[in-house]
Amino acid sequence: MDQLRRDFDVIFDPGLWSDPDRLAREIVSALALIVRNQTQVKAPLIKLAENLKIVARAGVGLDNIDVPAASEAGIVVAYTPDENSVAVVELTIGLILALARKIVAADRDTRSGNWHRKAMTGTEIRGKTLGVVGFGRIGSLTAVAARGLGMQILAYDPYVDPGAEHVIRAGAKIVELKALLERSDMVSCHLPATDQTRGLFNAERFRQMKPASFFVNVARGEIVDEAALIDALQSGHLAGAALDVRQSEPPSHGPLNEMDQVILTPHVGGFTKEAQDRVVAAVCRDVLAVLDGKPARNAVNFSSPR
Ligand code: 3PG
Repeated sequence: MDQLRRDFDVIFDPGLWSDPDRLAREIVSALALIVRNQTQVKAPLIKLAENLKIVARAGVGLDNIDVPAASEAGIVVAYTPDENSVAVVELTIGLILALARKIVAADRDTRSGNWHRKAMTGTEIRGKTLGVVGFGRIGSLTAVAARGLGMQILAYDPYVDPGAEHVIRAGAKIVELKALLERSDMVSCHLPATDQTRGLFNAERFRQMKPASFFVNVARGEIVDEAALIDALQSGHLAGAALDVRQSEPPSHGPLNEMDQVILTPHVGGFTKEAQDRVVAAVCRDVLAVLDGKPARNAVNFSSPR
């Protein structure tokens, strides 16, 4: 921010996303727009952005940005593809272990004065199969970390070549989604939200999962039909689930809040100090570059305005 303020007028308002009228007024004169996941940068807003050269997404998910519309307007779209991956991977591993060993339930129960050792018997993850759905940066790094803990890795990703180097390096076997769901003891979701992935985890997919398996979602809430997940948990078909992301954020109170076998976190996958420092540095670097007539390093469309 200090760097940006030296040369430009900066409007720093973390609540601006929730006031579309004000955002529409401010965007007219803006040269650059830096956003997180809540600001909807869609065609109507882009149309008003007569002076905009770059939209910089301080994060990896691009589902809130209409990249084709920005491209048509000649606006660079930059993001931070790598900067928060490790943070998301480490939360995923934490959630896998927390589910297997009932860490959160045990903490809640012990705090309330109990000492229920037998009820808190868990399962080991060594030798178990982790199904990684979406084998991009985060999915493949999760696989590497889980392999280090002795897990076997199955992966599903229609865009990844089964012989690709990152697949081999992670010791993963690429399979069809149905086979992955049937054979995995834990399923972890690492997909972007797109028209192809929204609602992917529906009743049928949860039915296909192995009885007493666990489900982890640190990607995007819209990928999961929460009502179907609740059914799968209530029936006992799934042993537990950990959700860092929700269908609507913040979510309203519901059955998931009442389930001991469920772990809920407030979309903090990317929230480590280190990751946030990297994200901010990368975003500011690209904004400053583009406003100085230089190419953006992490552009998803083109590196200079057109
Ligand atoms: C991402 O897409 O990088 C993460 O979901 C974090 O994004 P946010 O910090 O904008 O919520």
